[in-house]
Amino acid sequence: MHIDNRISGKTKIICLIGNPVEHSISPILHNTISRFMDIDLAYVTFKVEKNDLETAVKGLKALNIQGFNITVPYKKEIIKYLDENSKNALLMGAVNTVKYMDGRFYGYNTDADGFLRSFREETGESLMGRKIAIIGAGGAARAIAAKAAMEDAKEICIINRTLSKAQEIAEVVNNNIKKTVSCFCTEDANSLDVLDESEIIINATSIGMYPETEFSPVGSFKGFKKEQIVYDVIYNPGKTKFLADAEKAGCTIINGLGMLFYQAVYAYEIWTGIKLPEDILKNMYISIKEQINI
Ligand code: ATR
Repeated sequence: MHIDNRISGKTKIICLIGNPVEHSISPILHNTISRFMDIDLAYVTFKVEKNDLETAVKGLKALNIQGFNITVPYKKEIIKYLDENSKNALLMGAVNTVKYMDGRFYGYNTDADGFLRSFREETGESLMGRKIAIIGAGGAARAIAAKAAMEDAKEICIINRTLSKAQEIAEVVNNNIKKTVSCFCTEDANSLDVLDESEIIINATSIGMYPETEFSPVGSFKGFKKEQIVYDVIYNPGKTKFLADAEKAGCTIINGLGMLFYQAVYAYEIWTGIKLPEDILKNMYISIKEQINI
């Protein structure tokens, strides 16, 4: 029998807290990075109930954890339990990554950087000067809108079922980053013109996610054009109805796996202070795309 010496008394622990966490592929991503880089870190998940969040955070501090990720539904709520949050995390209204240093918890948001990196890697293009439509007005939409404004996008239009939520994001981005965001209610016929005129269309809602794969956030919109880049933050299924419809029209399509992978990479770099080499990341991403069954 082989002994298992992968975890020792010196192994540092990183975890994910959220609810649910069972479906998460973050352990696979982070443990793969540690294995590739030969770094003595192990990543595990903890399902935490709403009323236990503060106690869980205090407990992680008492345990001297190296850092942790936070996922749905606590990305906003966690902010008040941390000692300091980055300017970008506060702008985005969400923290997904926490580093423990000298007795203090520092909060960051790596989702937006993950989105941008995956967009660049997959298209070889930037967001500068582009007309962008974002569907949805939750945490993912806010992070992407803020990042697109920072990257000097020409126009950003948020289309959402609840107009007030889109307006809230527009106000934060317009007042703090760049005045580029407008918004429409999904039901407003103008939203179809926005989709028609945008160079980049991003789904930042959960519509079309497994198991409800027959739905698209743009319904039966038939106006996709082959010049458009169509991005879905969903990675399960790998090709949503939204992406399949866009692909039929000849668009460049991108799913959310790259965003998930690169937010993990940036979080890992924050925890360890190590810059992960480009060539290793590229190989790792190819392996992950091939081997993750979603
Ligand atoms: P996250 O923070 O992960 O981005 P979220 O806060 O749940 O997710 O936001 C999801 C977004 O998808 C919201 O903008 C939501 O619309 P509302 O603001 O009107 O609630 C949108 N969304 C989710 N399910 C939807 C559905 N069935 N139809 C229309 N919009 C939906």
